[in-house]
Amino acid sequence: MKVFVTGVNGYIGAVLGSYLMERGLSVSGLDTGYYRDGWLYSDNRHLKWTPQTLHKDLRNIVAQDLDGCDAVAHLAELSNDPLGQNKPEITHKINHQGSVALADMARAAGIRRFVYTSSCSVYGAGTGEFLDETSATNPQTAYAECKVLVERDVGRMAGAEFCPVFLRNATAYGPSPRMRFDIVVNDLSALAWTTRRITMLSDGSPWRPLVHVEDICEAIYRSLIAPEAAVRGKIFNVGQNSDNYRIREIAQIVADEFPGCEVTAGPSAGDNRSYRVSFDRIHAELPGFRCRYTAKDGARHLHEIFQRIQMSADTYQFRAYTRLKQIKYLQATGQLDDEFYWQ
Ligand SMILES: NC(=O)c1ccc[n+]([C@@H]2O[C@H](COP(=O)([O-])OP(=O)(O)OC[C@H]3O[C@@H](n4cnc5c(N)ncnc54)[C@H](O)[C@@H]3O)[C@@H](O)[C@H]2O)c1
Repeated sequence: MKVFVTGVNGYIGAVLGSYLMERGLSVSGLDTGYYRDGWLYSDNRHLKWTPQTLHKDLRNIVAQDLDGCDAVAHLAELSNDPLGQNKPEITHKINHQGSVALADMARAAGIRRFVYTSSCSVYGAGTGEFLDETSATNPQTAYAECKVLVERDVGRMAGAEFCPVFLRNATAYGPSPRMRFDIVVNDLSALAWTTRRITMLSDGSPWRPLVHVEDICEAIYRSLIAPEAAVRGKIFNVGQNSDNYRIREIAQIVADEFPGCEVTAGPSAGDNRSYRVSFDRIHAELPGFRCRYTAKDGARHLHEIFQRIQMSADTYQFRAYTRLKQIKYLQATGQLDDEFYWQ
């Protein structure tokens, strides 16, 4: 099976390409390369492969780009709430319209399997109760709205000839060469490593579901190879029930991994999201899937990498590891135009 992986130079994509190739799939990558300035570490033992990659914008894909591909794993989007809020109209053009156009093109080319990386952020500002795939969505941002719209529009394309699968990932953690320090476990781990102090931006009570980056890769892999009848048009929350944590528990797990690290509550950053997610369906219905890691493993994996590269505070703060910072930099320096195309 040859898989067209979009977003292959991103945080998840940089792990996914090698993950799929190691399991015997061939991969053709696409990425415009917004975060190419950031490469945290090399690991040719664990990440053996780099797929051939087309450096092109999702919005400019043509049918020939998909030649010879049997499946699509679509990750290339503006990938979090603050980035999506920066210019919501562009978020809609890339994340919603770009994704639907790609699915349409794949279907027209006779590609049957289309795996989409959605997000648990579609559940929005819950009250901490358990939510599952049948719960109402409540998107709070352009990013989350677009995830809901893609699920709706691409979901309508499901049929005898086309088998889309929607993976609502929890917030990821764990090492990737194309690191992100704007997601909670990675951020707190880097804080613990560089300052030995974690200040939470709230009282720490909100719930967050988390998932290891390699477990997301496993969910994508299993969604690609599952029999169509098991996954056609289905939505799966990606994670495990035991990886729902209160922020203060996450801070403590991280602090335990970095000896001497102190945890304090700080002023609220106004982020009122709080939700727990049920991951029963993916474990019951996606053949072969199970999560291998917990947040504790993730913090340990991050610690190992920080130690190996002797990570500095400057590296932690480097713009390319924070999605919004990098896009703002590319715009301020005239490298990206108003529509986020390279100049
Ligand atoms: N990381 C998480 O915690 C998480 C959680 C839930 C869902 N997701 C989803 O998974 C996907 C991948 O997330 P990630 O963390 O790897 O994000 P990321 O920002 O690290 O990677 C996204 C990649 O897509 C590329 N890209 C963005 N816009 C593009 C465009 N117009 N044309 C071509 N390439 C473009 C970027 O250059 C980047 O390399 C995203 O759709 C994200 O919304 C991620």
